[in-house]
Amino acid sequence: MPSDSLTITDNRTGQTYEVPVQDGAIHATDLRQIKVEEDDFGLLSYDPAFLNTASTRSAITYIDGDRGILRYRGYPIEQLAEQSTFLETAYLLIFGELPSREGLDKWTDEITHHTFLHENVKQLMEGFRYDAHPMGMLISVVAALSTFYPEAGNVSDPENRLLQVQRLIAKVPTIAAFSYRHSLGLPYVQPDNELGFAENFLSMMFKIAEPKYEAHPALARALEILFILHADHEQNCSTNAMRAIGSSRVDPYSALAGAAAALYGPLHGGANEAVLRMLEKIGSTDRVPEFIETVKHGEGRLMGFGHRVYKNYDPRAKIIKQAADEVFEVTGKNPLLDIALELERIALEDEYFVSRKLYPNVDFYSGLIYEALGLPMAMFPVMFAIPRTAGWLAQWLEGIVDPEQKIARPRQLYVGAEERDFVPLEHRAGGELVAV
Ligand code: ACO
Repeated sequence: MPSDSLTITDNRTGQTYEVPVQDGAIHATDLRQIKVEEDDFGLLSYDPAFLNTASTRSAITYIDGDRGILRYRGYPIEQLAEQSTFLETAYLLIFGELPSREGLDKWTDEITHHTFLHENVKQLMEGFRYDAHPMGMLISVVAALSTFYPEAGNVSDPENRLLQVQRLIAKVPTIAAFSYRHSLGLPYVQPDNELGFAENFLSMMFKIAEPKYEAHPALARALEILFILHADHEQNCSTNAMRAIGSSRVDPYSALAGAAAALYGPLHGGANEAVLRMLEKIGSTDRVPEFIETVKHGEGRLMGFGHRVYKNYDPRAKIIKQAADEVFEVTGKNPLLDIALELERIALEDEYFVSRKLYPNVDFYSGLIYEALGLPMAMFPVMFAIPRTAGWLAQWLEGIVDPEQKIARPRQLYVGAEERDFVPLEHRAGGELVAV
């Protein structure tokens, strides 16, 4: 009998099955042999929200949520945040190894030369209302890019895939900055190919009439660190969307638009916006205990706290807290910081949060930095989408070449009506439109 196996006894039939255990998991389809009657469908595993289901094998990002560990391709996030750049990290995620000097130069050159948008994209952006949410614009424009690059649909060709990857990593910041400028009614600023990734983004955002925009080096570095920290996070909601949509073999622009839409939600990338709104609502440190009590009574959540995977301090939150101090030295302290620190202090001592292992996550402090950089809240999820584009694409590429990949198609447990006969219109009662 192989030792790496699971013996299952079906108490409905008394029958015993042996299921192999590989990499700490059983294959869910191995359960299908477990039946009561010969023509049964077979046993399903029920796992809404994928709480205990591995949907893929992946060699990109490792998380140990209990110990607060995050690594990209084996490299600890702390070392990458301290020593790497966003484009180098993106290379690492996409290709699996750190680049040589020559490889990095080539990669940087490719990304830099794909930052411009087709002129028609600008017209498309003009069509949005003056107060359109920049994340809504980003999602729509990324989806629209598939019509500008129809060859992107050929996802079986590795060269073609790489070209689209470079285009997306390069163009998403330009779209993001243009969305922001649109909301202010300011003219778009074209990319400056002489600038680094973060500096160029800041230039496209904030340049007014000066011949060359020079970002403060400490702010550009802080942004670079935020980009590194947000670049990937294994099978989260938006990455799962990217992989699921990509499994239909659609082009990566369409898949990435779907991933960005998933990121838009307040329980995911929208959380940093929600954190700032929460801090503003609390208003002062003396009102923190009262707010904590309302959370404990189930009246809303402490935004920026808790994580599906981390049951310890999110390692990214630690790095961001430090980066925030460096930013505030340049910009002056964000007055909401004291409220955030007090919330964290009280929550980390409070039985409710301690027993549920609720710690600050990546979003708890990132919004404070974005605000100090002069960004409106609506831009926060967009700032998340810029670096996560690299992660989504690394995950998409991994899925496309995975021999085990099939179109994502979960099963359901049907709980609806049994078969019944159609009732003619004149014999039906009711008629109210009741919200469901
Ligand atoms: N504030 C108060 N209570 C919380 C919080 C919170 N932020 N998060 C979880 N809880 C409580 C729940 O009410 C639940 O309590 P119960 O057992 O008494 O019912 C328990 O902790 C477990 O919570 P779940 O919702 O089951 O945890 P889940 O893993 O599904 O949720 C999530 C994770 C969505 C991140 C959640 O912690 C949350 O809503 N946090 C606030 C939003 C947020 O910060 N999101 C950003 C996540 S990081 C990212 O996406 C980049």
